[in-house]
Amino acid sequence: MSSNTRRLKELCFSDTRAERMSPFLALGLLVAGICSVHCHPENVMVKEQRRRVDDHTLASSNTDFAFSLYKQLALENPNKNVIFSPLSISIALAFLSLGARGPTLTEILEGLKFNLTEIQEKEIHQGFQHLLQTLNPASNELQLSAGNAMFVQEELELLDKFIEDARALYSSEAFSTNFKDPEAAKRLINEYVKNKTQGKIEELFKFLSPRTVLVLVNYIYFKAQWKTRFDPRHTQQAEFHVSKNKTVEVPMMTLDLKTPYFRDEKLGCTLVELTYTSNDSALLILPDKGKMQDLEAKLNPETLTRWRESLQPSRIHELYLPKFSIKSDYELKDTLSQLGIKKIFTDADLSGITGTGDLAVSQVVHSAVLDVDEEGTEGAAATGIIIEKLSFQKTTVRFDRPFLIAIVLKDTQSIIFLGKVTNPSQA
Ligand SMILES: *[C@@H]1O[C@H](CO)[C@@H](O)[C@H](O)[C@H]1NC(C)=O
Ligand SMILES: *[C@@H]1O[C@H](CO)[C@@H](O)[C@H](O)[C@H]1NC(C)=O
Ligand SMILES: *[C@@H]1O[C@H](CO)[C@@H](O)[C@H](O)[C@H]1NC(C)=O
Ligand SMILES: *[C@@H]1O[C@H](CO)[C@@H](O)[C@H](O)[C@H]1NC(C)=O
Repeated sequence: MSSNTRRLKELCFSDTRAERMSPFLALGLLVAGICSVHCHPENVMVKEQRRRVDDHTLASSNTDFAFSLYKQLALENPNKNVIFSPLSISIALAFLSLGARGPTLTEILEGLKFNLTEIQEKEIHQGFQHLLQTLNPASNELQLSAGNAMFVQEELELLDKFIEDARALYSSEAFSTNFKDPEAAKRLINEYVKNKTQGKIEELFKFLSPRTVLVLVNYIYFKAQWKTRFDPRHTQQAEFHVSKNKTVEVPMMTLDLKTPYFRDEKLGCTLVELTYTSNDSALLILPDKGKMQDLEAKLNPETLTRWRESLQPSRIHELYLPKFSIKSDYELKDTLSQLGIKKIFTDADLSGITGTGDLAVSQVVHSAVLDVDEEGTEGAAATGIIIEKLSFQKTTVRFDRPFLIAIVLKDTQSIIFLGKVTNPSQA
């Protein structure tokens, strides 16, 4: 354990129980798209999810948000693998919303796909609290941990209500941090996240500015074994068709098993659900050739529900699935703005954090990794929300290159001199 991490000073208001964060599982831990140029044939989408989530509204909103964000990320990252944890991002934004007021608050909650005529803000937080508290602790069958933390600039005075809610509803740890030395602060927080994700997320933050006063972090780590494992002796190099024109060689695993299966003629795709020993599962969705974009457009909670109801245990004589390890880093400011969450970055009202109106989010960063092999799946993700203090913008104009000058008489607006200065040192 490094001395750096030990130097993280836990704030006195933070509860110091060793294991405060109950590990949890929830719908939409990770969503991945192994994609490809033009999203052509052999594409796979992985989704692990908990079958039973107590709060249906919370689950359905989180799924809606997951698919909306997926579509936006797929659009912004054509021809690239996509991997993210929608749940980590939802929790981090809901956590932030504790400090938001007025239209800024409404925008976050609606952006997270909550219908505020049907559910109240309080119920949303209680839903997340419930999710955090009631989900099963890690067992032998499953390694799972998730939690929240906040890193607070030493002199920043947080409102008691924000502190209490962060701890009670989001089980957040809190640490006092010196952002005046942004490099050191970045190293400390990255190390915290790395530790919490079993070393899988090494550098969540690439950059922190000295104006940073508060950083909110959510992390998730997941590791589970297939109920029916693939035999590594049967894994062989095989072709994966990235696009019409591009083929790559990948280690292709293979298996003969009985597992939930559904051929969706309506959407033109085939679904296979692979279960873990914990009974959680990965849903693999293979669109027909050339149908990836059509399928992506139809991804929504209703489609997922229809799929869930249609999957039937079937014998699959030959299942071929590539062994893969994918990783993505995102800066979500523009993406979230596209989904309607804008005010936190521009004219934020985060007065619920400190009681003042001078805070705004400068960036939301997210990193995720997903490894799938013969044994099972290991995934980790983290979301970071960087909050800065708005300062009066210092305006600087430096005439240090050629410029024009016009001397204008006030009364007649006559230009009495007009010139161009290209070299002030020349007489
Ligand atoms: C790192 O993680 C382990 C296990 O999750 C925990 O026991 C330990 O206290 C952590 N160390 C630091 C410095 O956070
Ligand atoms: C929100 O819920 C109300 C009442 O159920 C419904 O009329 C409205 O269309 C919903 N709004 C959205 C954006 O789904
Ligand atoms: C695919 O190959 C064909 C013929 O070689 C070429 O005309 C076309 O531009 C290529 N398409 C892409 C997307 O590279
Ligand atoms: C998984 O489900 C099966 C069948 O319902 C059950 O027998 C088994 O105990 C479950 N395993 C776990 C870890 O919950």
